[in-house]
Amino acid sequence: MDPILTTRGLARTFRTKRGTVEAVRGIDMDVEPGEILGLLGPNGAGKSTTLKMLTTLLRPTRGAATVAGHDLIREPARVRLGIGYVGQASGVDPTETVRNELTRQGRFYRLTRAEAATRTAELAAELDFADLLDRTCSELSGGQKRRLDVAMALPHRPAIVFLDEPTTGLDPASRADLWDLIRRIRAEWGTTVFLTTHYLDEADALSDRLIIVDDGRVVAEGAPAELKAAHGGSPDATLQDTFIAITGRGPKRDDLAPVAL
Ligand SMILES: Nc1ncnc2c1ncn2[C@@H]1O[C@H](COP(=O)(O)OP(=O)(O)O)[C@@H](O)[C@H]1O
Ligand SMILES: [Mg+2]
Repeated sequence: MDPILTTRGLARTFRTKRGTVEAVRGIDMDVEPGEILGLLGPNGAGKSTTLKMLTTLLRPTRGAATVAGHDLIREPARVRLGIGYVGQASGVDPTETVRNELTRQGRFYRLTRAEAATRTAELAAELDFADLLDRTCSELSGGQKRRLDVAMALPHRPAIVFLDEPTTGLDPASRADLWDLIRRIRAEWGTTVFLTTHYLDEADALSDRLIIVDDGRVVAEGAPAELKAAHGGSPDATLQDTFIAITGRGPKRDDLAPVAL
């Protein structure tokens, strides 16, 4: 099967008052349909910038990419309608009901009014939040809000969804729920999932394959077990040992999760 996503030399530079920041320095990757791909790297590695380019929110400075069958540079509008995106911060209107937000999102993705309403009910049933449809978004817990964020990427049944740090800031039980939700999206609909995380345990648990980025470059790539065998010394090595071996750096402290870069 053809890859659902390819990039060649994808790069993005920011000009700031203090100079030029090379956030992404030229990334090549191929993602197969139905994969859960984890883009792993420490804060500032270029994960969000990469995701924003692949979802048409940022224009690449150079390089090429094909996403969901369309050229990213020449056909950004088509790419946008073929994908789902969940940003690092929630995009829902806190004053609206869950039902209204999901239906509005369906309309954004060009569903008819009736289709959008039907799809809202379907998503709520399939993703276990039918009881929340008439709540105001501001009344949801952190975990519930994040589930809604993910559902907001799905009304048009995209072949690929992009999730930027989907579980950052969640308590352990909500993280486990969200992992389950991500696995279900792939299992039930065959959706390709492209997620970023700086949590090693999350990357290990969820991803079929990892691409590790550091300072805007790909530094390693492979299935978690392959990376551990190749760099960590044995397939039983932890991903943490492996990451240290690859980057030459120890894990950074993070107050939100026990095992983070
Ligand atoms: N809009 C911007 N303007 C200037 N620099 C930016 C901008 N967005 C990101 N950067 C810089 O680019 C680098 C990569 O950022 P980002 O992609 O957000 O990393 P990550 O998501 O891996 O934490 C960082 O050095 C960050 O400060
Ligand atoms: Mg980020």
